[in-house]
Amino acid sequence: MVFSILAKEGYARTENIEEADVIMANTCSIRDNAEQRIWGRIDYFNTFRKKRSGLIVGILGCMAERLKDALLDTGKVDVVAGPDAYRHLPDLLQAVYDGAKGINVELSREETYGDISPVRIDKNGVSAFISIMRGCNNVCSYCVVPYTRGAERSRDWHTIVREACECVEAGYKEVTLLGQNVDSYLFEDVDFAKLLALVAGVSPTLRVRFSTSHPKDISDAVIDTMAAWPNICHHIHLPVQSGNDRILEKMRRRYTREWYLERVARIRQAMPDCGITTDAIVGFCSETEEEFRDTLSIFEEVGYDAAFMFNYSERPGTLASRNYPDDIPLEVKTRRLNELIELQNRLSLKSNKRDVGREFEVLVEGPSKKGDAQLCGRTGSNKMCVWNDTTHKAGDFVRVRVVDCTSATLLCELKK
Ligand code: 5AD
Ligand code: SF4
Repeated sequence: MVFSILAKEGYARTENIEEADVIMANTCSIRDNAEQRIWGRIDYFNTFRKKRSGLIVGILGCMAERLKDALLDTGKVDVVAGPDAYRHLPDLLQAVYDGAKGINVELSREETYGDISPVRIDKNGVSAFISIMRGCNNVCSYCVVPYTRGAERSRDWHTIVREACECVEAGYKEVTLLGQNVDSYLFEDVDFAKLLALVAGVSPTLRVRFSTSHPKDISDAVIDTMAAWPNICHHIHLPVQSGNDRILEKMRRRYTREWYLERVARIRQAMPDCGITTDAIVGFCSETEEEFRDTLSIFEEVGYDAAFMFNYSERPGTLASRNYPDDIPLEVKTRRLNELIELQNRLSLKSNKRDVGREFEVLVEGPSKKGDAQLCGRTGSNKMCVWNDTTHKAGDFVRVRVVDCTSATLLCELKK
């Protein structure tokens, strides 16, 4: 999208960083280590200043929104654009050329970039992301997103369907609808269940995925729509964060363990083959050993197919940071995290072993890490498959049979 905005003003994209007159990084503030990595990138970009006078370094997105002028004050950054300011990027660049400050961190109640067709820079041309909403109204107490991304806005569904059609015309075989909380999508009378059906209706061979669902909001209508449309993938990313009711309450997640488990049961009832994955945070403020055990036990009980797991990272300005001390020592957080990761590895392996002997339709993404004679692609439930194959290419649908597995991958053979 940023490329699309800048291309209209005559800027062209280069693959060679040494040639660039402008280098911009899109940033994430969700955890402190995400920001630390960006600081490393900023230093790297600055090494090109010696060779290229007049180089402009820009920081876009959440970190721009959170740190604002402080980024300019480092002397390492020239342009600072918050997530709702991308239409102003050409003006911001001009301001810098004119010797003024290039900063805009205003958040908007309306901006969805709905009318802008993004320039797709993904490598494989098979799978595309479509943003359906921006911002978040959920103020989970640990989370910086509502502050950096602003209030929730849903994009006009006409422009979403149009973008899905454009993806099909451009040869894409899969789209993933993206939002912080897709279940609260609403534009006119189109809610998320209706939107899913509209996008699935674009083409029977277009695979449709989405992320992220909120356990308090995922509706029966969404689950039943997934079950009804053969081209909507049976995979739900359903972040649990914690398995303990006191911690969930303190995180302001607004569901209980019991509610979460009921939603999982409802999903499995409608789609027994549905992949369920999650996010969890360990070592949230005041989490006891026993409360952490509840996270382990909900992982066991659900039997996730995969999970992203994190140490709690205090984010300045959030409710948790203002109200509760970050009081779990790093060694304790890390020990809990390792224990959870170890459990998830076992659960992933168990889930993959159940698939040995089964057949799946997978969408070829390209060569596997091992090279050209082996291809990789995902099942509808979002499991990575690899198999020996010299006859297919990225974008093909193939049938494979699982012959073996690791905790991360299904090892398959091609069905003729
Ligand atoms: N500390 C650790 N993990 C966090 N996440 C969000 N905020 C924090 C934080 N302050 C995790 C949540 C969320 C995922 C995208 O990042 O698990 O689902
Ligand atoms: Fe953050 Fe909660 Fe919104 Fe997700 S739902 S972005 S965790 S505030």
